[in-house]
Amino acid sequence: MYPTLLLLHSFARWAVLILIVYSIYRAAAGLISNRPFAKTDNAFRHWTATAAHIQLMIGMLLYTQSPLVSSFWHHYRTAFHDLNLTFYGLIHSALMLAAIVLLTIGSAMAKRKPTDVEKFRTMLVWFSVALLIIFIAIPWPFSPLSGRPYLRTF
Ligand code: HEM
Repeated sequence: MYPTLLLLHSFARWAVLILIVYSIYRAAAGLISNRPFAKTDNAFRHWTATAAHIQLMIGMLLYTQSPLVSSFWHHYRTAFHDLNLTFYGLIHSALMLAAIVLLTIGSAMAKRKPTDVEKFRTMLVWFSVALLIIFIAIPWPFSPLSGRPYLRTF
């Protein structure tokens, strides 16, 4: 189960990133061109939040299966000296959780805004902050916190 979850979690990252980046692009373009908030904009708002929620579920399952997380909690007094353990036991999960909460609030607020300009602006701001946090918390191969591959093949 652990390898499957890791594989799914690694791939789902790209779905979340592509959807959030495209939603931000649509929100910025909509705001600049002052066009109406279309059904497609609403669909991307919705599917971006849904993809993030699916990734959250996979991440939470992975958290219960990961040997790194287990090692972090079994040796938490000394684990803080090991950046790799602290990253997965605390930093990655806490930052991603915060980002998904912000994304969810932004999505819900945008849905309820009365004007199209406010819908675009709300999505642009909240999704951009969430993207920034997600980008920092992803273990990119170049990340100083923890390096993982762009695509997991095993
Ligand atoms: C948008 C949200 C998230 C993204 C984009 C993301 C992305 C990633 C990526 C790319 C990896 C490395 C996968 C690999 O080694 O190939 C990873 C590992 C991991 N993530 Fe996430 N993650 C997210 C949310 C979460 C959340 C919310 C949790 C926990 C509550 C979580 C728990 C973990 C754990 C435990 C590992 C690694 C476990 C191990 O190597 O043993 N992730 N994540």
